[in-house]
Amino acid sequence: MRIVVLHGQVHHGVTWHLLQALLAGLHAPDDSLQEFTLNNLPSCTGCFTCFKVDEARCPHRAQYGRIVEAIEAADIVIATSPTYCMEMSGQLKTFFDHMAYRWAPHRPHPAMWNKVGIAISSTVGAGAGNVVRSIARQFMWWLIPRRYTLALALQAANWAEVSPEKQVRAARQAEALGRKIRQRGLPKRMGLLQRLIHFGIGMGVRSGKWLARDTEYWLAQGWVRSVKCKGAG
Ligand SMILES: Cc1cc2nc3c(=O)[nH]c(=O)nc-3n(C[C@H](O)[C@H](O)[C@H](O)COP(=O)(O)O)c2cc1C
Repeated sequence: MRIVVLHGQVHHGVTWHLLQALLAGLHAPDDSLQEFTLNNLPSCTGCFTCFKVDEARCPHRAQYGRIVEAIEAADIVIATSPTYCMEMSGQLKTFFDHMAYRWAPHRPHPAMWNKVGIAISSTVGAGAGNVVRSIARQFMWWLIPRRYTLALALQAANWAEVSPEKQVRAARQAEALGRKIRQRGLPKRMGLLQRLIHFGIGMGVRSGKWLARDTEYWLAQGWVRSVKCKGAG
């Protein structure tokens, strides 16, 4: 299985250790793994070029295009982030912002329909559940049908501060999740929720009141055969 990891942080802290245990459970050989840190990616400029013209014209495409290609070729996409002020880290969110054109109402990629998405976060006390739900929501709107989350509160600023007993318990939990995901395998088709969303958006595209670039994409994919009038924008 090809696995892509999006690291929402560069350091090897609590979140990174949880990831290592999960990867051990997945039995991921090194050559199946591609890992990316996101710290050098500038913020989205809000220019709408990806939506209205093409993602290839995004001013930052050179910095993240190969990450998108790796995600599209992968079977499993893992995103990790410590909990920062109850949210995911800014750098991970910045990457997700650059993927807005891949959301279901725009130009979702059919390669997403057979993937598994995994969200991992750690926290001192609160907020990790919020972070993994938020990451899983991004995956859902990319139309990834099967999503798993791991959120642990370990009352520590770094892995060394986690007591040995808690380290063992946390690693066991992460590894067990990895094993479960491996045993269940990959989804064969788009999930029911994704099919409903896709169908509903198809109706919108057919109405002709959709972005012209997205309308062109949906027609080219054969998801809609005709539109009532010219696309908007
Ligand atoms: C900027 C910042 C914000 C944080 N916000 C929260 C928070 O909202 N709630 C919480 O319980 N812990 C918070 N923490 C603590 C971390 O989430 C926690 O220590 C986490 O396990 C660190 O993971 P890491 O070792 O992978 O960086 C924050 C830490 C930092 C540095």
